[in-house]
Amino acid sequence: MRSVRIAAAAASICILANPVSAGPVAPLSRVIGGSVSFGKTSDGRTARLYTLTNKNGMRVRFTDYGGLITEISTPDRAGKLANVALGFTSAGEYQARNSYGLGSPIGRYANRIGSARFTLDGKTYSFKPNNGPNLLHGGPPGYNTRYWSVSMRPLGINHGAVLTLVSPDGDQGFPGKLTVRMRYTLTEHDELRIDYTATTTKPTVLNLTNHTYFNLAGEGNGDVTGHLIQVRANSMAETDRMMLPTGRILEVAGPYDLRDPHVIRDGIEMLKTSPAGGYDTPYVLANAPRKKPVLAARVTEPNSGRMMEVYTTEPGIQFFTGQQMRGIDKGPSGRPYVRYGGFALETQHLPDSPNHPEWPTTVLRPGQVFRSTTIYKFVTPIDRLHS
Ligand code: BGC
Repeated sequence: MRSVRIAAAAASICILANPVSAGPVAPLSRVIGGSVSFGKTSDGRTARLYTLTNKNGMRVRFTDYGGLITEISTPDRAGKLANVALGFTSAGEYQARNSYGLGSPIGRYANRIGSARFTLDGKTYSFKPNNGPNLLHGGPPGYNTRYWSVSMRPLGINHGAVLTLVSPDGDQGFPGKLTVRMRYTLTEHDELRIDYTATTTKPTVLNLTNHTYFNLAGEGNGDVTGHLIQVRANSMAETDRMMLPTGRILEVAGPYDLRDPHVIRDGIEMLKTSPAGGYDTPYVLANAPRKKPVLAARVTEPNSGRMMEVYTTEPGIQFFTGQQMRGIDKGPSGRPYVRYGGFALETQHLPDSPNHPEWPTTVLRPGQVFRSTTIYKFVTPIDRLHS
């Protein structure tokens, strides 16, 4: 394996200062602990939809079914709110149509495990492959199809919820009973913060991420190829035709070098004929994993002026451009989700880490507490003026 030394600071990404201006957005009433029906799933159970708001009028909605993030409404440069997270209008629709993983928490192992097997402490665990010969996103049933228990919390001046899922020993084929807690917080600085903790009863592997697809022009508003993307990574895991890491860590180059802002379209033009058909790229973040979240990526949509930054404690981030969407499914706006209609920035450990002991470990043992934090921060041009 050719190893690449990862330089500390990759690119000239400047961090904008807080605080965030209230702007011209009308304040929404706060809802703590309230929820409304989100329709029934096929087992007859009624899903609940929860709302978080902040003083700037930002709104985040999520459901106990799958722990899915169904809406992230943020203002544009004129103060007009739009939902920038792709999704559906009921739990039943997610259950029937969400092969994309819109809004989804992914577990027990986000991304791929090569040949659908790994060995831990001398024991080999094998799975039914669901992505060519490999295992993708832990296999069925995904964590985004389970009911999570929700407890709404007023968290200081912020506003949040704790979602808990108990994944039994042997669930999806993984060893150990895993208790996962995900805290969703909407801060007064327009950040959606996700804090994960997990504990296990037996040695296991885990890789947790959130798979929300974003369109900063508003969900269903065409494709995202006009957005500008910047990823603060000097290196990436090389992948094969099935997007499984080959084991080589490469310096970013050509369309994969996103250290300076690039129009997504330019990279996609070069990657259209690649096996991935666009970006589906595991980037390696410098000096990670780490205790405090650090800026990993920034995306800007020039027409609306919306900008999103991603901060994480994770050692990797998968940039994915939604090439599998075909204009068939429609979101809450009623407009179809076309090819490249959303992008995901999935913070995680590197794919197939259980088969690469030389990479940051994904093993969790009894007595240890897994911790991970990712922040999606939304910044409008108003903030720029005030920073
Ligand atoms: C993967 C893609 C996959 C998508 C939907 C992404 O995390 O990298 O290859 O198509 O999830 O499951």
